[in-house]
Amino acid sequence: MSFENILVEKNNAVATITINRPTKLNALNKATIEELHHAFKDCETDNAIRAIIITGSGEKAFVAGADISEFASFNTSEGSELARKGQELLFDFVENLQTPVIAAINGFALGGGLELAMASHIRIASDNAKMGLPEVTLGVIPGYGGTQRLPQLIGKGRANELIMTAQMIDAPTALSYGLINHMVAQPELLDKANELALKIAKNAPVAISQAIKAVNANFKDGVNGFGVEIDRFGYCFGTADFKEGTSAFLEKRKADFKGN
Ligand code: COA
Repeated sequence: MSFENILVEKNNAVATITINRPTKLNALNKATIEELHHAFKDCETDNAIRAIIITGSGEKAFVAGADISEFASFNTSEGSELARKGQELLFDFVENLQTPVIAAINGFALGGGLELAMASHIRIASDNAKMGLPEVTLGVIPGYGGTQRLPQLIGKGRANELIMTAQMIDAPTALSYGLINHMVAQPELLDKANELALKIAKNAPVAISQAIKAVNANFKDGVNGFGVEIDRFGYCFGTADFKEGTSAFLEKRKADFKGN
């Protein structure tokens, strides 16, 4: 499939998806969300890919939010549908992928941009990055999971403040809040993301996918995360990756995981 708004590069075990609308600060319009859905799905079904990096093109923005020009005239039901479809196609989809996603935040991550980074499993940012949920300045609230994932990551009080004031925070503040895991100079951002991705890629893919399920279970209503952990832990024992990992340890050699 060819894409107009994103670039996809696969290098050994790591796929890098770059949102490529720099003149619109990589704002997420409908077409871009659909392309991202297909690109993530393709990487998920490609057995050679063990980690995915999502970033934005240019030096200014990761993603400056949902494309305001597309929804400015929407009514109530169109607004609900925009959020529902976006969550289903991209934000929930990314969070529940079996392949880990690292957001490399290279500049502004606002609104849907920060929401995409928060749906990713790990976030790192360049030291010039600015993050925020400015939706209330437009008369709307975050609709791509921001009201749920920001409190999960930084706590309810700080999340309420950021959402209500619409204030942007810089990368050092995001680091101190635990919103990002690492901060590096912009030219080093993709190297750092790749370094993390390759560390993950060395480990058992099935175990990583089961860990994602267990960690996500903690945040799902009506789901007993400890129960999911027990279930997924047991599941790992039936996998070839588990046999390979334990055999390699006992035979004092490096494991060669096949992801099954
Ligand atoms: N949706 C649509 N277009 C957007 C956009 C968005 N979320 N964010 C930026 N753009 C476009 C601008 O309209 C402008 O397009 P133009 O050159 O055709 O006029 C271009 O990207 C550059 O943005 P500009 O505002 O000129 O850059 P800036 O450096 O002055 O300001 C920001 C940067 C990020 C502070 C500013 O673009 C901004 O506030 N964007 C909206 C952020 C937002 O509210 N996001 C949440 C949406 S729900």
